[in-house]
Amino acid sequence: MSETTRIKIKHEIGQYECLIGGELISNAAEHLKAIEAAGPIGIISNNTVNELYGTLLRDSLQAAGFVTRTILIPEGEAYKNLATVEQVMDALIAQGMERTGTIVTLGGGVTTDLGGFVAAILFRGIKLVHIPTTLLSMVDAAVGGKTGVNHKSGKNLIGSFYQPDLVLMDVHSLASLDERDRISGYAEMFKMGAVCDLDYFNFLTENMHELLASEPNDKLIQAISKSCELKAEVVEADEKEAGLRRILNFGHTLGHAIEAKLGYGKIRHGEAVILGMYGAGWLSNQAGDLPDAEWQVLADNLRHIPLKTPPGELDPAEIEAITHLDKKVAHSELHWVLLSKLGQHDIRSGIPTVMVRLAVEAINKAWQGREA
Ligand SMILES: NC(=O)c1ccc[n+]([C@@H]2O[C@H](COP(=O)([O-])OP(=O)(O)OC[C@H]3O[C@@H](n4cnc5c(N)ncnc54)[C@H](O)[C@@H]3O)[C@@H](O)[C@H]2O)c1
Repeated sequence: MSETTRIKIKHEIGQYECLIGGELISNAAEHLKAIEAAGPIGIISNNTVNELYGTLLRDSLQAAGFVTRTILIPEGEAYKNLATVEQVMDALIAQGMERTGTIVTLGGGVTTDLGGFVAAILFRGIKLVHIPTTLLSMVDAAVGGKTGVNHKSGKNLIGSFYQPDLVLMDVHSLASLDERDRISGYAEMFKMGAVCDLDYFNFLTENMHELLASEPNDKLIQAISKSCELKAEVVEADEKEAGLRRILNFGHTLGHAIEAKLGYGKIRHGEAVILGMYGAGWLSNQAGDLPDAEWQVLADNLRHIPLKTPPGELDPAEIEAITHLDKKVAHSELHWVLLSKLGQHDIRSGIPTVMVRLAVEAINKAWQGREA
């Protein structure tokens, strides 16, 4: 496999690096020393990931003299909430965490979002290193500084922008990932190509099977690196989501509504985004400027992704109503991220309710009768 790729991400008050390659967990101490991280190191993870990679990480850190504390959070999106944040902070404080210490998140997007939020508020902010272990968290959640948790009335309603000091993406950790989580991560890369880079979109669709394979390979490193580079460009231009960064929500307005309706745990975030991109693509064609031929390419490629959990019949009125709970509603108006072309975004508001319901009908039709 190729050498480690390094991508620099600049932000308001500095910059950090994302390292993408192999053996990054077993060499974590070396990379933490390079950013002058100090102990105690509060490792935030869950049982599954801790069993798989916790010892590898602790061995590296402890051999280099770091004092570590490991806090395990319950598994799943349902626990990405303020109650878990409080439990993690209670445990860290009880175990002697200090202002000068470092939080290391080890896990998927739930862990990086929640652990990042803890780092943002504990002692008014402490050093943060993300070690994302799902494809989705590598290409999306761990990069860009959005941290937070869910509220009972909607996803990610509580949080802050808090940039990590380092992100280590060890592709070897992806070997143990469930197939549905690979597909979920692929969906976020697909989104990136669809909204901002046609060449990347073509690369992803042409190499889908290799990118979904369980063995980490050079094409996967290339795809993760490109996704991070594109995300870096977007967040550098608009760190706090005042404008351009909204394009990263392509497929997410309907996706979040579908996820909320079907229940976190039943559908993966990226799986819901696949359906959401289909609906947003349909709207781009019917209510926007996306030409028929390009809509067909988008639709065919989305239907081609081997979704393991067909959504069943979605109620258009219900899904449309849930979109209004989404935090992207500004002054009661939803901003829809659509496409004017493949690889080119088009933000629109004032999409009629009836069109949104029809977009949900289009999703139903596309996945009707499909089995895993
Ligand atoms: N902050 C952001 O910008 C941003 C962007 C996109 C998504 N997100 C958030 O990310 C979350 C979804 O992330 P996710 O899909 O990684 O979910 P997740 O964190 O729940 O991980 C999915 C599953 O994979 C397991 N797992 C993790 N790494 C593994 C590995 N290497 N091998 C085997 N199993 C492993 C986890 O224990 C979990 O069961 C959502 O909460 C979403 O809101 C945040």
